[in-house]
This record gives sequence, C-alpha cells and structure tokens, in this order.
Amino acid sequence: MSSISSKEIQIERAKTTKIDQVDFNNIDFGRIFTDHMFVCDFKDGKWQTPKIMPYQPMTIDPSARVFHYGQAVFEGMKAYKDEAGKVWLFRPEENHARINKSAARLAIPEFPKDYFFNGLHTLLNLDKDWVKPGMGNSLYIRPFVIATEPAISASPASEYRFMIICSPAKAYYSGKVRVLFAEKFSRSADGGVGFAKAAGNYAAQFHPTNLAKEQGYQQVVWTDANTHEYLEEAGTMNVFFRVNDTLITAPTNDRILDGITRKSIIQLAKDNHIDVEVRRVSVKEIKDAARNGSLKEIFGAGTAAVISPISTFEHAEEVFELPNVEDSFASIFKEKLLNIQHNLSEDLHNWRQEVK
Ligand code: COI
Repeated sequence: MSSISSKEIQIERAKTTKIDQVDFNNIDFGRIFTDHMFVCDFKDGKWQTPKIMPYQPMTIDPSARVFHYGQAVFEGMKAYKDEAGKVWLFRPEENHARINKSAARLAIPEFPKDYFFNGLHTLLNLDKDWVKPGMGNSLYIRPFVIATEPAISASPASEYRFMIICSPAKAYYSGKVRVLFAEKFSRSADGGVGFAKAAGNYAAQFHPTNLAKEQGYQQVVWTDANTHEYLEEAGTMNVFFRVNDTLITAPTNDRILDGITRKSIIQLAKDNHIDVEVRRVSVKEIKDAARNGSLKEIFGAGTAAVISPISTFEHAEEVFELPNVEDSFASIFKEKLLNIQHNLSEDLHNWRQEVK
C-alpha cells in the first residue's frame, strides 16, 4: 500500500478566516464548517497526492456513481481542546479501522492509515482555533468517501474521493429524547450493511423517523428485522438499558454499528464494577421491567449524541415514561467520558491521541 508524509500533502491556505462570523454559543449541529477541507482522489488504481484547500463547493459529474448507487461511507469523530490549549482526538484508530470495514462492504478501496492520520492532523493543526475549550464544546470531524467515477452502470466505481470536513459542535440532541420502538420498518437485516457507516443506512431511516416525529418522537429504536422482538440500535446512537443496577446492550453483529462510544461505555462500566450484560434485549423484557419499576434508564450513545438520556418510549400504542433517577448511569458515564476526552482525567486505556 502507498504511503505519504505530512510534508507531501499539498496545502492551499484560506486567504481569510470565517471564524469571526461564528457565534460559538449558538451552534446548530453540522451547519457551519471550518476554513479548510482535506481531499484525496483515487484513480488509476491508487490514492493520489492529498490536498488541503479552503472549504468550498466542488464540481462532480452528474453521472458520478455515488448519486445513482449510493456508494458512500463516512465516519464521525470529535476533537477536544484542553485547558492548556492542546487538541485531542478520542480513539481515532477505531474510526480509521471502521471506515475501511465500511468501505470494504461497499467495494470501496481502503484508505491508507498514514494518509488518514497525516491528513487529519495537518487539517486540525490548520483549523485548531475552531476547537473551542470547555466542557460541551468539540469539533465534529466527518471523514467520508464517495464514488466519483462518471458512469451509470451498476458496478463499483474505479474513481473515488476521500474527504474530511470539520464542524464546531455542541449537543446533538437537546434535552431528553423520546423514542418509538420499531414494529414495522427495519433499519438492517442479516447479511446486510447495518454494521457499516454507509450513507444509505441513514437515508433509509428518514421516512420511518419522520412518521415517528409526527407522533412526537425524535428517534426510532430499531428492532430485529425478522421478528421485531429484539431491540438493536437507534440509528444515530447505540442503546443501553439499565434494569435495576445492571447495564444491558445488544451485541454487535452485521446489523448493528460497532459504536466507539458504545464500546467505551462497556469498558468504563467494567472499570467501575458495574454489571454489564452484552446480550439480546427483548422488547417484552423492557416493557415488563418498565411495568414492575426495575427499568431505571434507557440512554443512547454515539459520537455526535455523546450520551443522550431517553425519557419516554412507545411500543404497540403503549407509552412508558422513564423515572428520574439520581446518579444516573447516563450522567456518570457522560462525565467520565467527557473528562477523558477533554484531558481532565487519567486515560487508563490510552484512548486519547494528541494532535501534533
Ligand atoms: C455520529 O455520531 O458521529 C454519527 O455518525 C451520527 C450522525 C448521524 C450524526
């Protein structure tokens, strides 16, 4: 596989910065982008010299395969600034490994590790003023790959574009989240692409999620496609259930995203001697637990969402309200995670990576 050093990346700096026009206290997720973007094209069987250039629109042929067959995968990562002004990534090796797993499933060529990390660090160094210090502030990083070859026959492209764009972020969901357990629609199936961060996985959720929104719910918790009896994930988040003092979450498989926040919470639970069960979770047991009072919490976990407590769920026209618990697992894990991410606590598992 080809390799590249940071020095070989072609850099065109933005002539002016947009940063002064941004109100960092009022940010809608994913609408504002930093001054630069990273671009690397794949053609003639190899990744070409990467470039960093001012963030800008780009020209793509209308016949590019991404528009017709959805050959596109992405990642979600965040950078954090500590009190000394150092910028940190959280488990970025996991994102690199996962984008390549997603890519392989969609017949997209893998992106080399040194291209990914040299590109990412160079980009973040240029745009580091956009990473604001303080709890709750972060820079959301969106690496993605699209099939750019102009050809509308239904087969994998021979040309791709890998890009990284960055967007200052605060909370993804504000307040508690209300969810509907899926009874009819499915997000993914056995042997499918549910485990991948494939763009189409998200598009396929929009219509059922819109229907849920009409009923006052922000998200659907997807159930297994075969029986709709087991709870899987919420699309933008993995889902955790606390029954009494046990934390339960579904195991990853080819239908469920192997979330980095999810696996970090499982590790933190073990570190803190909290019982954690990674096993199938049935709709019935959660409804029973809600009825008998042993269901204490449900929360979602993801890079964008961090940890989002769920206040209400509905299934088969029955609505269940979750209790307000003191010292919730959601708030304990959120604090622990954010403290590690912001370099405020010990990093037992070497999850932080400094941007240099
Ligand atoms: C993330 O958490 O990074 C995601 O990819 C979810 C996205 C839909 C915002």
